[in-house]
Amino acid sequence: MARTPYQANMDFFQCTTLALIFVALLLNGLHASTAAQGDEDDPAEETNSYILDKDLPKFGEPIQNLTVPVGREAVLTCVINNLQTYKVAWLRVDTQTILTIQTHVITKNHRMTIAHVEGRAWVLRIRDVKESDKGWYMCQVNTDPMRNQIGYLNVVVPPNILDYPTSTDMVVREGSNVTLKCAASGSPTPSIMWRRESNEPISAGATSLNSSTFSISRVNRLHMGAYLCIASNGIPPSVSKRVMLIVHFPPMIWIQDQLVGAALGQRLTLECQSEAYPRSINYWMKNDTIITQGKHFEPSIKEINSYKVVMKLTIKDIDIGDFGTYKCVVKNSLGETDGSIKVYHIPSTTVLATSPPATTTVATTTEAVHRKNYKNKIHRQPVDDLSASSNKILGAGESSELWNIDGSIDKDRDHRYRDNAASFNEDQREKEAFVDNEASSRAGQPHRATVAVLLIFICYTLVASSLARR
Ligand SMILES: *[C@@H]1O[C@H](CO)[C@@H](O)[C@H](O)[C@H]1NC(C)=O
Ligand SMILES: *[C@@H]1O[C@H](CO)[C@@H](O)[C@H](O)[C@H]1NC(C)=O
Ligand SMILES: *[C@@H]1O[C@H](CO)[C@@H](O)[C@H](O)[C@H]1NC(C)=O
Ligand SMILES: *[C@@H]1O[C@H](CO)[C@@H](O)[C@H](O)[C@H]1NC(C)=O
Repeated sequence: MARTPYQANMDFFQCTTLALIFVALLLNGLHASTAAQGDEDDPAEETNSYILDKDLPKFGEPIQNLTVPVGREAVLTCVINNLQTYKVAWLRVDTQTILTIQTHVITKNHRMTIAHVEGRAWVLRIRDVKESDKGWYMCQVNTDPMRNQIGYLNVVVPPNILDYPTSTDMVVREGSNVTLKCAASGSPTPSIMWRRESNEPISAGATSLNSSTFSISRVNRLHMGAYLCIASNGIPPSVSKRVMLIVHFPPMIWIQDQLVGAALGQRLTLECQSEAYPRSINYWMKNDTIITQGKHFEPSIKEINSYKVVMKLTIKDIDIGDFGTYKCVVKNSLGETDGSIKVYHIPSTTVLATSPPATTTVATTTEAVHRKNYKNKIHRQPVDDLSASSNKILGAGESSELWNIDGSIDKDRDHRYRDNAASFNEDQREKEAFVDNEASSRAGQPHRATVAVLLIFICYTLVASSLARR
C-alpha cells in the first residue's frame, strides 16, 4: 500500500506522540508513587511538623519523688502545658494499671482521687497510704507516640515489735541456757538492739547488742533483770519492749565471822549474807528456837537487791546464857540452807574477834529450764486492690483510645505523624521502604529518557524508510 508524504508525516507524528505519552506516563507514575510514599518527608511538610511538635503538650516540671509515712496522704502532681485535646492518664508502672484518665478515677481503689488544678496540673491524691502503694507512678499523655514521666512513691512504716516472735518475761533456773528473741516490722526494715534496763553490760564489755536474738549460756543470777529490745528504722517513733529475765536458784549463805568472842555485858552483832530467788525468808535460831524481836535480841534484814540479803542479829547486853551457837536460816521454794556462828566467852578486859575464812554453803537442786514455746505465725501482706483493675479503658466515652503501658520512660521523640494508626515502628519501616524506592527511582529516570529517544528514533527510521521505498 502506497503512502503519501502526508501519511508518512502522520505516522511519524502519531508514533512520536505515543512515545511522548508513554514517557509522560512513566514519569507521572514515578511522581505519583513518590507523592504517595513520601508525603510527610516533603521538605515543606517537615517544616510544618516541626512547628506542630512545638505545639504538642509538654511537661512543665518533673514529678517529685515522695516519701510518705503509712496512713498519711500522698500527692503526686503532673504539670502539662499546652494539653489541647489530648488526654492525661495516671498509671501504676509496676502493676500496669490505669488509675485515672482526665478527671475520671478508673481504678477500683477508692483511696485515690484526681483533680485538675489551674488548667495544667493533674493532681493524684492517695489517702490513707498503704505499703502496697509504694512504687513508680506514671503520668501519660496520649500523643502518638505517647509522652510520659514517672515519679516514685516511697511508703515508710515506723517500727512495730511483733508480739508472737518476741520473747515474753522468762523464768529460768540458774545454769540453763537462754535465748531472747525480738522481731519487728516496719519499712525500711528496722534494726534491733538489745540492752539492759539497768545499763549494765549485756555481754562482755558491751552495753548493747545489734541483734534480734541473743543467747546466754549457763545463766546465772547476775543475768537477772529487765532487758529492752529496741527497734528503730529512722521513722519515729522507735519502739521498745521490756522483757524480764527471772533466774531461780536455791538459797546460799556467806558468813564473814563464824567464831565470835564476846565479854559479858557487851553489845554484839552477828551477820549473815544470803542470796536466793524467789525471795527467801530469813531468820535466826538458837537451841532450835527461832529468835524473835524483843528487849534482848534485835534481828534485822536488809535487802541489797532482789535476791541478796544481809541479815543481822544484835544482842544488846550479853549475859552468860547468850554464849553458844547461833544459826542464820534462809528458805525459799527451791530449798533451805543455814549457817552457824559460835559466840564464846572472853574475859571482860580484852575483846577479841577471830576471823576464820568464810565458808560457802550451796544448796543444790535439780535444774529445770522453764521456757515458753512461741509458735511462728505467718504474716501476709494485704492484697493490693489495684492489681485487680484492668488496664483496658472502660471509662465513659474513652473506650476507643489506646494507652501504652510499656513502661518506657520519656522517649521524647520528634513527632512528625499525626496519623493515629501509625506507631513508631511502622513509621520507621515506611521510611526505610521509602528510602529504597527513592534510590531505585532516581536510577530509573535517565533510563526512561533513553527509551523515549530510542522510540522516537525508531519512529523516524520507519517513516523515512517507507518514504524511500516509494
Ligand atoms: C526520683 O528518683 C529517681 C531515682 O530514684 C531519680 O532518677 C529521679 O531524678 C527522681 N526525681 C526527682 C524529681 O527527683
Ligand atoms: C549498733 O547499731 C548502732 C546504730 O544502729 C550503731 O551506732 C552501732 O555502732 C552498732 N554497734 C555495733 C557493735 O554494730
Ligand atoms: C548450754 O550451752 C552450752 C554451750 O554454750 C552447752 O555446752 C550446754 O550443754 C547447754 N546446756 C543446756 C542445758 O542446753
Ligand atoms: C540450849 O541447849 C543446850 C544444849 O543443847 C542446853 O544445855 C541449854 O539449856 C539450852 N538453853 C535453852 C535456853 O534452851
